[in-house]
Amino acid sequence: MQQGIFITIEGIEGVGKSTAVNFIKDYFSKQQIPFIATREPGGTGIAEQIRKILLTPSEETMLPETELLLMFASRAQHIATVIKPALEVGQCVICDRFDDASFAYQGGGRGIDLAYIKNLDDWLVKRRPDITFLLDASPELGLMRAKHRGPQDRIEQEKTIFFDRVRAVYLERAKQDTKRFKIIDASQSIEAVQREIKAILDNLGLQ
Ligand code: TMP
Repeated sequence: MQQGIFITIEGIEGVGKSTAVNFIKDYFSKQQIPFIATREPGGTGIAEQIRKILLTPSEETMLPETELLLMFASRAQHIATVIKPALEVGQCVICDRFDDASFAYQGGGRGIDLAYIKNLDDWLVKRRPDITFLLDASPELGLMRAKHRGPQDRIEQEKTIFFDRVRAVYLERAKQDTKRFKIIDASQSIEAVQREIKAILDNLGLQ
């Protein structure tokens, strides 16, 4: 059986990832393409419990190393129990964030050596995404939008300069893999963003 397509959506906070994910889900539904939609950190019972630990603000400071290892712990669980089985039966997987986020946030944001992250990635992630939509906007714009969503989680509470570093690593990774990454200017209107996403999905010839 032919494997499903693996699509990930990335970007800093407030760039409209959820709207993009919903748009892609709608697109797949309309075209009657079998898919599952999931997210990271999370996507399974255990991985969602790890997500809670990662995102709940706490008085105890979480070490960058702890954060990185928990991200990959949840990812290992998610790949084995959700992503791999779906792709193997020909379902497409739409995943809100995946391993690029670990390079961007724990590498760029927290300053962990990217070589350590690559080691974990090579060990645990055998099937890489086929397409990654990188919704790109300045942290100033993203954080302003994110603030309107209500209480901020532990990572959202970081300062603009943290997200500048996250964004820089995302853009650097996109530059190194122009085939997989589709950079979308998220400062545009929702309609313009969706038009770009649709054009890219149309081009995949999925039907
Ligand atoms: P979300 O807000 O998109 O649901 O993502 C939760 C947070 O987790 C977000 O601030 C980005 C962060 N994150 C990482 O720092 N590293 C990772 O590997 C992933 C998947 C998410």
